[in-house]
Amino acid sequence: MPKYILGIESSCDDTSAAILEDTRILSNVIANQQVHAAFGGVVPELASRAHQQNIIPVIQDALLKSGISKNELSAVAFTRGPGLLGSLLVGTSFAKSFAWALNIPLIEVDHMQAHILAHFITKGKADDRVPSFPFLCLTVSGGHTQIVRVDDYFSMTIIGKTIDDAAGEAFDKAAKIMGLPYPGGPLIDKLGKEGDSGKFAFSKPNIPGLDYSFSGLKTSFLYFLRDKLKTDSDFIEKNKADLSASIQKAIIETLMDKLMKAVKQTDIFQVAIAGGVSANSALRGAILQREKEGYFEAFIPEFQYTTDNAAMIAIAGYYKYLTGSFADYSVVPYSRGISINL
Ligand code: KG4
Ligand code: ZN
Repeated sequence: MPKYILGIESSCDDTSAAILEDTRILSNVIANQQVHAAFGGVVPELASRAHQQNIIPVIQDALLKSGISKNELSAVAFTRGPGLLGSLLVGTSFAKSFAWALNIPLIEVDHMQAHILAHFITKGKADDRVPSFPFLCLTVSGGHTQIVRVDDYFSMTIIGKTIDDAAGEAFDKAAKIMGLPYPGGPLIDKLGKEGDSGKFAFSKPNIPGLDYSFSGLKTSFLYFLRDKLKTDSDFIEKNKADLSASIQKAIIETLMDKLMKAVKQTDIFQVAIAGGVSANSALRGAILQREKEGYFEAFIPEFQYTTDNAAMIAIAGYYKYLTGSFADYSVVPYSRGISINL
């Protein structure tokens, strides 16, 4: 008998619901919140309200698109954390009520583990390709930058992480400095395609081991532009594409340097990328290039599974369902990671 898992994601500014039949995707609906663009970042209070508004229509749509009825669901999986508390409370409360009303298990999921487990979502086709254990995953989002050693579905160790800003934050802050709206990552990616990545050089961090740092890069970008603007107030406008390509190159090279070091140190030759920044075309290109050069086998997520989505929550929920790892109704969200982010 196949299992039908409903996944619910509400940790930041995307309200999402998805349904899987075992590992196979049936639906993945995402409602983005546009209200934040004008504020240059996510406003927590507005995010909670938008989740409250979106959650039932998004669940209804996911059920409709999946072609199954709510009475066929085997379990409800939800993001417990990390994320914004007010946002998480909306998904958690809905998941509890829905599971209770349907009398089916409730499953809590760690958002960062889910980003990684998105690699196990299938289409039910012969060419479905998933990583085998152990593999390394570079998890890069707006809040996290981690190199994770994945030994099993829920046995993960962070072997490198950022000591300050996340990679997504570096993209977003650089974009903000250039006067671009939030989130700036996708815009830098788009503008960078037209630009020369060798035009401007920014100092790269020199951090020991497998850890990252992005705050120095942001500062050097800010000071560089401040100086240029003194003599040419149109400097940013004239050089938007080259600036985007150059700052993107600095971020991606930094990410790749430590990742290659991790491959060498662990002798693990399967490498995945996950999280919002894994949508970045230059990062995807760099990973595929290393694969072509024979360094490792690469796993690049489909675009719909890079930024926040509920399909990744549902797949994590599925593997917990198989081991009977269910949550208690007294479960509450957490804002910081507790399972792999200790
Ligand atoms: O995983 P995600 O949706 O949310 C978090 O859990 O943080 O990641 C969002 C981050 C944002 O910083 C956004 O700018 C970045 O991912 N991002 C990108 C791209 N698409 C999303 N950064 C660079 N290039 C992209 N194409
Ligand atoms: Zn995320």
